[in-house]
Amino acid sequence: MQISGHVPVLLQQMHGTLNPQKDGIYLDGTFGGGGYTRAILESTACTVHALDRDPEAEERSQALTRDFPNRFFFHKGCFSDMPTLFHENMFDGIVFDFGVSSYQFDTPERGFSFRHDGPLDMRMNPDTGLSAADVVNTFSEEDLADIFYTYGDEKKSRQIARSIALIRKERLFTHTIQLADCIRKIVYRKDGIDPATRSFQALRIFVNNELIEIEAALKASAKLLKNHGKLVTVTFHSLEDRLCKQFLKNESPWLHTQNVFFESITRKPIAPSQNEMHDNPRCRSAKLRAASLIREGSC
Ligand SMILES: C[S@@+](CC[C@H](N)C(=O)[O-])C[C@H]1O[C@@H](n2cnc3c(N)ncnc32)[C@H](O)[C@@H]1O
Repeated sequence: MQISGHVPVLLQQMHGTLNPQKDGIYLDGTFGGGGYTRAILESTACTVHALDRDPEAEERSQALTRDFPNRFFFHKGCFSDMPTLFHENMFDGIVFDFGVSSYQFDTPERGFSFRHDGPLDMRMNPDTGLSAADVVNTFSEEDLADIFYTYGDEKKSRQIARSIALIRKERLFTHTIQLADCIRKIVYRKDGIDPATRSFQALRIFVNNELIEIEAALKASAKLLKNHGKLVTVTFHSLEDRLCKQFLKNESPWLHTQNVFFESITRKPIAPSQNEMHDNPRCRSAKLRAASLIREGSC
């Protein structure tokens, strides 16, 4: 069962900062439902390569392959595969809209949702790696607490891990609601946000190795962008945003070893308007940053 489609976040702002040009070559590093890709392809006669690790995103990409023959190319893989997948390409612009898509979040069978029951999975590519259930059922209590704290900033991380360790002695965790209910008995929130939100975010980040992948995405982009090529990132929480901010502000020593640096396009991160937040509450924490890559010694 899939409940709804994906509403692209900060779409106009992404397009405005990327500013796609005729005959340009672009990479949409997070294809998802293809909202960004379609907007870029419709705006001018350019080429878009798109990447996603999710097999269902690959299925959705077929509509764009039909609509834009010879201008759209889908690649299935992770950010860390970019150097191999794109060793023959240099891009005029690269965009990343990090995190999960609504297709993933709203399909209970994918196991991301604490609202709708489903198998406790959370893998963006369900064909590989440990599922959330594997982690919750086999990791030590200490390691689980560290995951909830490090990736979810969950103050009750130790109590949640303790409770999981006690419950799983009797019955393994197999479903999302089972875990969400365990967390809801421990965490109380006054702000109306579901108490399971932080812990689910933490598990999802861990299961998908998201922060390491973002670092790989940023580094690969710095190698794959042409001189003056643009990098646009959209993030949804502070851990993602910090990585992008530091990289685009040239705070990564690695950039200096590559003889490249970024010139900011967005002096401050762009946030969704009140209207967009009203229409799509999920975008409330989104931040868009954009910069041009400069290769030292190039004109
Ligand atoms: C927020 S959605 C992108 C939505 C898209 N901008 C649109 O308009 O439909 C993020 C997508 O990035 C993909 N993704 C996340 N991490 C990835 C990674 N490390 N490698 C490849 N794809 C990744 C997810 O599978 C998901 O489909």
